[in-house]
This record gives sequence, structure tokens and C-alpha cells, in this order.
Amino acid sequence: MPGYHIRKARVHDVKAIHGLIYKCAQKELLLARSFHQLYNFLRDFVVLTDGEDTVLGCCALSICWEGLGEIRSLVVDPGHERQGLGRRLVTACLDEARELGLARVFTLTYVPGFFSRLGFAEVGKDVLPHKIWADCINCPKFPECDETAMLIELIAPANLETTASDA
Ligand SMILES: CC(C)(COP(=O)(O)OP(=O)(O)OC[C@H]1O[C@@H](n2cnc3c(N)ncnc32)[C@H](O)[C@@H]1OP(=O)(O)O)[C@@H](O)C(=O)NCCC(=O)NCCS
Repeated sequence: MPGYHIRKARVHDVKAIHGLIYKCAQKELLLARSFHQLYNFLRDFVVLTDGEDTVLGCCALSICWEGLGEIRSLVVDPGHERQGLGRRLVTACLDEARELGLARVFTLTYVPGFFSRLGFAEVGKDVLPHKIWADCINCPKFPECDETAMLIELIAPANLETTASDA
């Protein structure tokens, strides 16, 4: 896809990331994130930029527990939806999850159809105990969560498997 580029977020992206998330949070599509949270968790984020390095989308991979990660704060600029950018952002986070050795990644979402196209399957929220107690308890909607829990099982990259069997 010419002109578009995915990279780890940098501090100068925080205002753009905040703007993307804020607009979606106003529509209650995802949880708002403060500047403080974004700077704290900036290492979790990847951004998708155009040829002029304008941020058009963002996505975060959070490590929840051994073997378990979460996709959070996924947004594509409304003017650039349905061009495969959301897929690229999630794919980049899943690639990083494999490199980190995570076996499973989940998300809580209002767009299960999008995530099912990427290989996620719906699961009961009761399979996510660490998530429920660590983060959901701070959500204004807790305990009446109306999002769908989706999970994907990851296959380790070949080079990590080789390294493990060589050891
Ligand atoms: C959801 C969102 C990230 C999708 O981004 P996008 O760039 O438009 O998605 P893509 O173009 O990469 O779509 C990938 C696939 O999902 C499908 N898809 C996209 N949005 C969808 C939706 N809302 N429902 C069902 N399927 C969807 C596409 O048709 C495409 O399918 P295909 O591969 O079979 O052609 C984007 O619409 C968005 O930012 N929404 C607002 C914030 C939000 O809801 N974030 C998710 C919070 S968990």
C-alpha cells in the first residue's frame, strides 16, 4: 500500500493519538485515554502514517499476563476507513505479540465483525479473569459491559520455534 507506513509511536504522536481516540470515545466506541495514560503506555502503541508522517490510525498491544495480550485503542481516521488500514494496524500488533511470546491476544469490542475477519473468535468474558480485575473494574460501564470479547490464538514465528528447539 504505497504512501502508508506503520511504525512504533513516538512522543510527538501523542496529540494526534489523543485526538483520534477522543473523537471515538465521545461516540462511546472505545475508552478515552488521558495524555498521562498515553505517555505512560506510549511504548504499547503503533501508528499508521501517510507519506507526510501524518498519523491516520493507532493501535496498542498491552501485555496483561503471561501468554495473554490485549488489543486496545484501535482507531482509523474516519476519512480513511475501509482501505485495509485497521487490518494493518492489528496485524502489526499481532506480529509484535508473537515476537514477545504471547500465545493469545484478546480485545473487547463493538466491532466483532471486523475482528472475526482477522481470525479472532468470540469468547465468554469469564475466560479473561486478569483483564476483568486489572482494568475493567475502572471502566465507567463496569460491571454492565456491553462489548464483545474476541480472542485469537497465535502461532509462534518460525525463528523463535527454531531457537527454542536448538536450545
Ligand atoms: C473498526 C475500524 C478500526 C476498522 O478499520 P478499517 O481500516 O476501516 O478496517 P479495514 O479496512 O482494515 O477492514 C478489514 C476488514 O474488516 C471489515 N470491516 C471493517 N470495518 C468493519 C465493521 N465495522 N464491521 C464489520 N467488518 C468491518 C472490512 O470490510 C474488511 O473486510 P475484508 O478483509 O473481508 O474486505 C475503524 O472503523 C474504526 O476506527 N472505528 C472506530 C473505532 C473503533 O470502533 N475501534 C475498535 C475498538 S476495539
